[in-house]
Amino acid sequence: MPSIVVVGLQWGDEAKGKVVDYVSQDADVVVRYNGGNNAGHTVVIDGEVFKFHTLPVGALNPGVMSVITDGVVIDPGVLSSELDGLESRGFHIENLKISGCAHVIMPYHKLLDKLEEESKGEKKIGTTGRGIGPCYADKVSRVGIRISELVVPELFRSRLEDALAVKNRILTSVYGAEALDVDQIFDEYSAYACRIAGYVADTAHIVSDAARLGKKIVFEGAHGTLLDIDHGTYPYVTSSHVTAGGACIGTGIGPTQIDRVIGVAKSYTTRVGEGWFPTELCDETGNYIRERGKEYGTTTGRPRRCGWFDAVAVKFTAMVNSADAIALISLDVLSGLETVRVCKAYEIDGSVTPLFPSNPYILEKCRPVYEELPGWSDDISGVRKFDDLPENAKNYVEYVSQALGVPVALVSVGRGREQTVMVRPDLLQI
Ligand code: IMP
Repeated sequence: MPSIVVVGLQWGDEAKGKVVDYVSQDADVVVRYNGGNNAGHTVVIDGEVFKFHTLPVGALNPGVMSVITDGVVIDPGVLSSELDGLESRGFHIENLKISGCAHVIMPYHKLLDKLEEESKGEKKIGTTGRGIGPCYADKVSRVGIRISELVVPELFRSRLEDALAVKNRILTSVYGAEALDVDQIFDEYSAYACRIAGYVADTAHIVSDAARLGKKIVFEGAHGTLLDIDHGTYPYVTSSHVTAGGACIGTGIGPTQIDRVIGVAKSYTTRVGEGWFPTELCDETGNYIRERGKEYGTTTGRPRRCGWFDAVAVKFTAMVNSADAIALISLDVLSGLETVRVCKAYEIDGSVTPLFPSNPYILEKCRPVYEELPGWSDDISGVRKFDDLPENAKNYVEYVSQALGVPVALVSVGRGREQTVMVRPDLLQI
């Protein structure tokens, strides 16, 4: 089983970083295939916290090749700082490959992201403000600038001038903002280009060859499937292909190269930004989960909206990803609640359905139908074996697994690498 995709099954922040870190300890290659620095993956090793926005989490594991492929959008300033930050902590990132086909997040993307959001007022998406949507929009409109163009100064200058001729008209005429200066951007981005040029490579060939040679590959998804541009709760989504299928789209390999899909879900639900959230708890329990789970954004610091586990939504996302196993995260956060709830169906205008609607506007009318289970009071953050969990916590995990129809492979009981309870280690082996 040489290749695994790790993908989020909710609205992001499922702690995929921890799972990727765990499975990539045995990997040869770790591949980041979608999104940009709107993602934030945290890994805690021996109490030391590492936050990643663009680099694959696997970059920490010596001997692992880290690859940022075509489907990713890169803010080269952020990537340069991440590289500098890791180097200053003693990690020398040598085995990194960056696709020349990945698109560059430019200053006008960040500015337009902010201005577009402001102009939407109450109808804003609640983006991370990192320029992600405008960058992907330029990619699809075939006016974006790729990494392979950034690192060739004359080409970059000419592509930048062409882009700014249009963007400055939009900035000044539509939004009344100031025009951006071509020389300033050219100088700033040329410095980033020098920092990353040595890593640029033909990543489709590198990943395909690794797969052909039977190397162990982990594909690291960013965000969660409910934020996928096609399968998520549009328009309150991000702009990339978040699903396991995105690993093919964004990398340049075919679906037969993927052997297994691990879906990552929290034991409850969180969401950042605007958009539908049927099991949201705007009460004391929601606050309890937020504080215990430290549910504040890795990227923006925004408080996350919290609610009960939504098995209707996760059954749908497990389906669109063909998830073979679930990594159930943050079970420890639910300790101390008298009862815990799982949404097992939606009631819409008096009728009950177990299916997640493809038209997300229907979510507005969905009332969760809950299964209420007894809670547990013990601190479980020190538990390392499934059998040592309190009976009610075990029942909760088993209920979730049955509701989804997918086996739970691991349960996480804290942020540390070691705070992991294996249930089906065979499903995580690469
Ligand atoms: P964008 O990706 O910055 O355009 O934001 C679009 C939506 O996706 C917003 O609601 C963001 O809060 C959300 N989002 C994007 N990336 C993440 C993530 O990694 N975790 C959680 N929410 C995210």
